Amino acid sequence: MDNKTFHRQIFDWFDRHGRKDLPWQHPISAYRVWISEIMLQQTQVATVIPYYQKFMHAFPDIKTLAQASLDDVLTHWAGLGYYARARNLHKAARVIQHQYNGVFPQAFEHVVALPGIGRSTAGAILSIAFGQPHAILDGNVKRVLSRFYGIYGWPGDSKVSKELWQISERLTPQQRTADYTQAMMDMGATVCTRRKPVCSVCPLQPDCYAFHHQETEKLPSTRPRKALPVKQSVFLCLKNNQNQILLQQRPPVGIWGGLWSLPEFDDFSSLEYWCQLHCNDFSIIEQLPDKRHTFSHYHLDYSTVIVKEKNPKNFVMEQDNAVWYKNDAIHSLGLPAPIKRILQEHTEENQWRE
Ligand code: ADE
Ligand code: SF4
Repeated sequence: MDNKTFHRQIFDWFDRHGRKDLPWQHPISAYRVWISEIMLQQTQVATVIPYYQKFMHAFPDIKTLAQASLDDVLTHWAGLGYYARARNLHKAARVIQHQYNGVFPQAFEHVVALPGIGRSTAGAILSIAFGQPHAILDGNVKRVLSRFYGIYGWPGDSKVSKELWQISERLTPQQRTADYTQAMMDMGATVCTRRKPVCSVCPLQPDCYAFHHQETEKLPSTRPRKALPVKQSVFLCLKNNQNQILLQQRPPVGIWGGLWSLPEFDDFSSLEYWCQLHCNDFSIIEQLPDKRHTFSHYHLDYSTVIVKEKNPKNFVMEQDNAVWYKNDAIHSLGLPAPIKRILQEHTEENQWRE
């Protein structure tokens, strides 16, 4: 299939089946496309839509986002996960406000230099918002191209990625680039899906390598498995006599930067020592068994220690950026996934036995 045929097939399909009524498409602006692309990086369209609308209501333009507190932005992100995205959005809004007078830049080098925006996201924003002929290579496009051309090897590998980028660059049309970008994403999201692609309705089927070789299950190749390091942690679930739990805000850097969390320790004795320093009259209720949470770079094996503070008056918290929260705060705060799980399971199972 030459480029011309490929484009004709994609555009015909897009005109009939592409998504044209997504909230960020009307009205369209670089700001609105940017926010949508960041939300869509790790989250599906259906999940994103209500968050997107609430976010836009709270932060209708770059200036509002730049002037908001990080805490406010994280609260609007609560539930979407991958909070680094929200921290970077906030940081980038401030850069745009100060360096570009609040106007979203149109030069590729400027856009790709913003926090949280990589080559593919920059290409997506500039092609969708301004029709600039930049290529993209997000998860959807990697899947379509590796299947169509039969490109083996994990796309996270730099050689494979380079090859896919070359193909994507070569294929990206000079005309109707916005529609083309959206079409490729929609194809990946609705036809060439990760599991059970619907090849019977796919416009690329006549020349598709994976279809003809029955290799759709094998492509794209998965990441070679390597053993991840294991980190141990103990979380303190400290409860006062009003059924409130002590939550601590993390410093702005690191994997959970700016998120609310339970105080975390390397081991049980450090936790106990902290309680001796901070509590008035505490008793250790129980230590919950180890659980594992897997991040992209390591496993976190954590246990939770339930401690009761009977006399929390004058509890010294200011310097630790900590606050007593009712357990229902788990629904309204940006909490790391394992912390949310601890709080949820703990309320369900134990209902704070006295
Ligand atoms: N995934 C990432 N960007 C997208 C978009 N603009 N439309 C649909 N799915 C997407
Ligand atoms: Fe994907 Fe199937 Fe279309 Fe090939 S024919 S691009 S595997 S949906």
